[in-house]
Amino acid sequence: MNYAKKTVRDVDVTGKKVLLRCDFNVPQDKETGAITSDKRIVAALPTIRYLLEHGAAVIACSHLGKPKNGPDPKLSLEPVAVRLSELLGQPVLFAHDVVGEDAKAKAAALQPGQILLLENTRFEPGETKDDPALSKALASLADLYVSDAFGAVHRAHASTAGVADYLPAVSGFLIQKELEVLGGAISDPKRPLVAILGGSKVSSKIGVINNLLEIADTIIIGGGMAYTFSAAQGGKVGESLLESDWIDYSREMIAKAAAKGVKLLLPVDTVCADAFAPDAKSQVVKAGEIPDGWQGLDIGPETVALYCAAVADAGTVIWNGPLGVFEFPAFAKGTQAVAEALSKTSAITIIGGGDSAAAVEQLGYADKMTHISTGGGASLEFLEGKELPGVACLLDA
Ligand code: 3PG
Repeated sequence: MNYAKKTVRDVDVTGKKVLLRCDFNVPQDKETGAITSDKRIVAALPTIRYLLEHGAAVIACSHLGKPKNGPDPKLSLEPVAVRLSELLGQPVLFAHDVVGEDAKAKAAALQPGQILLLENTRFEPGETKDDPALSKALASLADLYVSDAFGAVHRAHASTAGVADYLPAVSGFLIQKELEVLGGAISDPKRPLVAILGGSKVSSKIGVINNLLEIADTIIIGGGMAYTFSAAQGGKVGESLLESDWIDYSREMIAKAAAKGVKLLLPVDTVCADAFAPDAKSQVVKAGEIPDGWQGLDIGPETVALYCAAVADAGTVIWNGPLGVFEFPAFAKGTQAVAEALSKTSAITIIGGGDSAAAVEQLGYADKMTHISTGGGASLEFLEGKELPGVACLLDA
């Protein structure tokens, strides 16, 4: 995939109406609906400010959540407009529909330097179907399409990709940075390239493991998926997370690594617990020797030492997925130790979005990393080497 895309700096935005796709899919409190983290709104500010300062009228849009049957007041983007307005220090107009009368009238009246936010794009049934009628209707509001929604570039939806069939399409600064850092790590990494893959399921990382075995020098496995690899080697995993259907695949990956000369590091010891609970009784056992009735919840101290040594002299480290149940302090030690080791290396350190980003933030290492991706699913598909529709649709530089 070509990662060199035109950006807002490569086109004249002055006096233009710009449809700006953001990823304002912010986490919300289940009870009150309050925004619990505004990181994604903050991440969009540089592009928004650039456009406004250069005399564009900005028509921002985004999805929020997964509404099933049209408009759902709980998933309205109106609270995002309020927070965006506070952060920008200027009014943010809000349209109560996506391409209806309110959006059309407010977009038509919008002046250079003003910003309008449309209602949740997924309130339109055509959004997730990538319906050309919706893409055309969105395009008709503006003269130029700018995407800065890195978190949603893996979706071939009307507002993330389809609309680019009807308007010149360029990237904002957030996508530009993600493409530079992630693209650089994949296509021309500073070596050795070490990939740390954790999280609960092998099945959600199949494509990533397979693709990184072509690129990385070392792959480190942790988290719940390590137990499927352990079972593939004939280990006893007790009550640990196990995906029986993926044991053969794990065995194939172990063989592929050996054939390619990629170092595949698996845990050598495990912190296991007698229950999945923060205060469960725990003990350290050798990997593959988890007693019946016990479950692995973290990597053990010998594994920590092995993994920390592997990242110490890395040129680039890509990390996707926590190494244990970091939400429980008693089982966060492996994830914490590796995060600390990353904070001390001189390597380029790239954290995939989603759980891994949450882990380094919660454990206090976020500002020590080179880059924390704003995309969960998107960064995963990037590492799988898949073409991302929301990137492919942008004009090549
Ligand atoms: C995300 O939160 O990962 C993105 O906003 C994509 O959301 P989606 O999984 O609902 O498409």
